[in-house]
Amino acid sequence: MSGGHFIVIEGIDGSGTTTQCSILADRFIDKGLSAHPTREPSDGPIGVLIRQVLTGRVVVPSREGVRPPGWATMATLFASDRLDHLEAEILPNLDNGITVICDRYDYSSVAYQTVSGGGGDEVSTWVRELNRHARRPDLTLVLDVDPEVAASRRDTRSGSPELYEVDEMQVELARFYAKIDELFPSDTIRHIDANCGVEGVTTAIWSEVMALRGESV
Ligand code: TMP
Repeated sequence: MSGGHFIVIEGIDGSGTTTQCSILADRFIDKGLSAHPTREPSDGPIGVLIRQVLTGRVVVPSREGVRPPGWATMATLFASDRLDHLEAEILPNLDNGITVICDRYDYSSVAYQTVSGGGGDEVSTWVRELNRHARRPDLTLVLDVDPEVAASRRDTRSGSPELYEVDEMQVELARFYAKIDELFPSDTIRHIDANCGVEGVTTAIWSEVMALRGESV
C-alpha cells in the first residue's frame, strides 16, 4: 500500500488550527478517504505532561516562588513528545496509507521556543537541530491571522490563558510565522489568510490539499 500524506496546520494561538484540522479530517472521511487527525502536544505520555505545564499544573520552585520551566526545557520536552508521537502514531498511520492531519508540529517549536528563548538565530538553529529527525510533512498550511483578531477569538474561550497566550508574545509569533519558510527551505509551506470566516479558510485549505493529491477542486 502506498503511504498516506502528512499534512500539518500551524499558526498562532487563536488562528484556528484546531478547528481547521477537525474540518479537514471530516471532509476526508465524508469523501470516503482515510484520515487520522492528531495534534501536538500529543496525547502520549510526554504530551500529557506538556499540557500540564501549559496550564500551570507543573512548575519549578525558585527563589522568587514558582515559575514555569524555561524555554530550553520546553524545547526538549516538545522534541521528545514529537519523536514519540511519530513513532507511536504518525508513522504507523502513514505506513498504512492513511493521511495524517496534525494540529502543530516542529514549526511551533521553532517559533514558540525561539521567541520565548529571546528570538536569536542561535536559539532557532538549536531548536531545529533538536528536531532534526522529525519526518518532514508533505504539506504545511500556516494560518496567518492578525494578532488582534486572534486575541479576540481567544477571549471567547473558557478557562485561563495558557503559558504562551500573552498578547505581546503572540504579536512576535505572528511576525515569526510570516517568514517561517526561510527556516524550512525544503518544505512545502503555504500561507492561508485566516482573518476571514471559518468557511473561507476551509476552502483555501481544501484547494491546497487537492493540489497535493493531484486532483482538481
Ligand atoms: P494548543 O493546543 O492550543 O495548540 O496549545 C499548544 C500550545 O503549545 C500553543 O501555545 C503552542 C505551544 N507549542 C509550543 O510552544 N511548542 C511546540 O512545539 C508545540 C507543538 C506547541
